[in-house]
Amino acid sequence: MKKPDNPFVLNTYHGKAYFCDREDDLLILEEHIKNGRNVVLYAWRRLGKSALVQRFFEEIEDSGDYETLYVDFLSAVTLEDAVKELSQAVFDRFGKTKSGINATIQKMISSIGASISFDPVSGVPSLNLGLNAQGHEEQSLQALGEFLNQRKKRIVVAIDEFQHVATYSERNAEAMFRTWVQKFPSIRFIFSGSHRGMMAEMFLEKNRPFYQSAQLISLGPIPLEKYTPFIQGHFAAKKKVISAEIIELIIDWSRGQTYTVQLICNYLYAQCQTVKESDFHRVRADILAQQQAVFANFPKMLTKTQWKVFQAIAKEEPLQNPLSKEFINKYQLGAASTVNTAIKSLQKQELVIEDEGIYLAHEVLLARWMARL
Ligand SMILES: Nc1ncnc2c1ncn2[C@@H]1O[C@H](COP(=O)(O)OP(=O)(O)O)[C@@H](O)[C@H]1O
Ligand SMILES: [Mg+2]
Repeated sequence: MKKPDNPFVLNTYHGKAYFCDREDDLLILEEHIKNGRNVVLYAWRRLGKSALVQRFFEEIEDSGDYETLYVDFLSAVTLEDAVKELSQAVFDRFGKTKSGINATIQKMISSIGASISFDPVSGVPSLNLGLNAQGHEEQSLQALGEFLNQRKKRIVVAIDEFQHVATYSERNAEAMFRTWVQKFPSIRFIFSGSHRGMMAEMFLEKNRPFYQSAQLISLGPIPLEKYTPFIQGHFAAKKKVISAEIIELIIDWSRGQTYTVQLICNYLYAQCQTVKESDFHRVRADILAQQQAVFANFPKMLTKTQWKVFQAIAKEEPLQNPLSKEFINKYQLGAASTVNTAIKSLQKQELVIEDEGIYLAHEVLLARWMARL
């Protein structure tokens, strides 16, 4: 991997040197996987689930005993999309061998109703996922599972944003995946997702196919005492200085959300030799100003009440009782029942979350922007 221009990386994983802590989570993951347990990894958005999985995969691949497969269901809105994502991931990972396309891959490809074409110039193969894949998802999953199962090394499959499976119109989609997982007991699975509520329901509700089928890991923010030396270390390597006090301010303002901390540090590292508190204030204002165009769309996507309630939650952070007279009167939100309906809808859209009894606007930067309106 190329050395990044700025040590505070903003897109997934760039190697161990730019990855802070998570040592305990890594140990737990390893312990589960090496003992035949599947894992559910859940956390609020942008805390570092995907990066952690990549970090873990790098480590177990290096050990030489495992092969890993990472699939993201973020954009898979139908069951067919999900199976296509999986097929593509399997092909990208295992299909392009030095010796060309071998018989096992050939067999798997025809079983999933796909074909291969070769770039006329480079000769690089690519997968064409046929239209006849629809309706044959179960067979395709079977073929993909068999293919993975016959690999010599142990296989770990991570499916990111797995909660999407629960939203597919095919009512048996969840059960189909569950059966698939059960059919290949020697393949290990990591299911990760940012919709904490949905992930918890899928794995903790008795009548759901995945009920108690995996070990739950809930990822929290990186602790201050780990993040501080990490940040200071990268600054110091370029003879730059940032105090522990300012780092604490950054982490507070970011609510510990890894992405936001990284973003602010990325700017400060680029702009300052010795970071002053005023630099932090300037950078956070600049970041919010840049997001203005995106954030300005939110009121258009919500009803008037939802927007008012959403904004009030951001301003009032940390809010404990959104139905209290005090809160409702302060922001003139109307009847408690209306506020209640609005909150339910905001929660369903994951714009508002409830974390240990506190109501929060999920997206930190959006929350900070709304609080200033
Ligand atoms: N341990 C870490 N150290 C440094 N940066 C991290 C770490 N974990 C995540 N990041 C950064 O934080 C951002 C969000 O992480 P990501 O894994 O995409 O979150 P999630 O999958 O939970 O939404 C990314 O930009 C990633 O580079
Ligand atoms: Mg992710």
